[in-house]
Amino acid sequence: MGRLLDVRDLFAGYGPIDVLRGISIHLDAGENIGLFGPNGHGKTTLLQTISGLVRPTSGTITFNGADITTAQPPKIVEAGLVQSPQGNTMFGEMRVQETLELAAFSRRARGKRNDNLRRVFGLFPRLQERGNQRSKTLSGGERQMLSIGAALMCEPGLLMMDEPTLGLSPRLKEELSEAIGKIASDGVPLIVVEQDIEFLLRAADRLYLIEHGEAVQEIDRANAPDHAEIMELYFGKAGA
Ligand SMILES: Nc1ncnc2c1ncn2[C@@H]1O[C@H](COP(=O)(O)OP(=O)(O)O)[C@@H](O)[C@H]1O
Ligand SMILES: [Mg+2]
Repeated sequence: MGRLLDVRDLFAGYGPIDVLRGISIHLDAGENIGLFGPNGHGKTTLLQTISGLVRPTSGTITFNGADITTAQPPKIVEAGLVQSPQGNTMFGEMRVQETLELAAFSRRARGKRNDNLRRVFGLFPRLQERGNQRSKTLSGGERQMLSIGAALMCEPGLLMMDEPTLGLSPRLKEELSEAIGKIASDGVPLIVVEQDIEFLLRAADRLYLIEHGEAVQEIDRANAPDHAEIMELYFGKAGA
């Protein structure tokens, strides 16, 4: 099986100081990966850089064998690399269904708009119920569903999610966890950023611990220490 995504020795940031400092991660065909680690250490920046929204200062990003290090964001989405962003970025006057339909703007996704809309509504019946509602009136959990739904409308060949359960109740978290499991078993490869390691271990085959803009540890679920040990590794280091 080939390598779907290869990030090598990547440096990137927002000013003179790099947030990402030589990070390398990869994702092989057929696997899902998780990213965790303390706040402010570059997880979101990594996803933004892969999406083309933050420009790398050095290093390479290869997706499906193509070098996308300097590609523009629309081109990256067109290639099938899609991010469902962290936080509230797309919620306004537009109605839920319109938001989803508009998300299928790329050439790759346009023809599959109706199929994908059905798929998103199947996954998140709540979005269908709220189809006519303005997206700014959605609850936190529903916004997260819309954000993931919009990403699915892009027909992703690799879907990146940034803290999809941040701030959600345990019940909603469970609901999202199930939906994310379904997306994965549908054959969409995933990169999931999460603080909740138990959640991550359910969704991902391999985890990377991100600290100071580097992947400092790689954990294979198959021969992983149990999650208590991972917690200790994480909190032990984060608290040190
Ligand atoms: N748009 C931005 N402009 C300037 N600095 C930023 C911006 N976004 C994030 N940062 C800084 O980059 C560092 C890494 O942030 P981030 O990638 O969001 O970390 P994480 O997702 O791991 O919490 C932090 O110090 C943060 O303050
Ligand atoms: Mg973040």
